[in-house]
Amino acid sequence: MIVNISVLFVCLGNICRSPTADGIFAHRVNAADLSEHIRVDSAGTADWHTGRTPDTRTVAAARARGYDLSCLQARQVTPADFTTFDYVLAMDNSNLAYLRDIAPPDYSGHLGLFLDFAAHQSIREMPDPYYGESDGFEQVLDLVEVAAEGLLEHIQQRRQSV
Ligand code: 4NP
Repeated sequence: MIVNISVLFVCLGNICRSPTADGIFAHRVNAADLSEHIRVDSAGTADWHTGRTPDTRTVAAARARGYDLSCLQARQVTPADFTTFDYVLAMDNSNLAYLRDIAPPDYSGHLGLFLDFAAHQSIREMPDPYYGESDGFEQVLDLVEVAAEGLLEHIQQRRQSV
């Protein structure tokens, strides 16, 4: 049986970490020929950057590794997202606390930290690169690449077991 799965990545502003996760995971999904079955999106807990493309530093760092994030647009997460998405994955514990506050009590999907899918990494929260140096954007890319691989493996196993 073919199972369709949807994944929402969430950070604070939806211009650095979650668009990076969105673009890289969508790239992996596409490479696995699964884009008809796995829907990918991202959002922010804050509405400050709604409608904007990702931070120019985020776009440039991703582009240097072959990922195009320039067509993504920031939006704020809403309670309705919990009726749409099977996986709602937060970048840090503060994002996760916000999401737990707005999630319907009967949400039956997976609400957790994205880096829980990163194998062999002790770090559980994605560092926020927004106010830091450019190596912060490289660190986000490194972590997202590992976690995206783990998440795709997890979803593929789940699809096969249904
Ligand atoms: P993000 O990073 O949550 O990874 O998108 C931030 C983006 C913007 C701000 C903070 C963090 N800000 O303060 O505007």
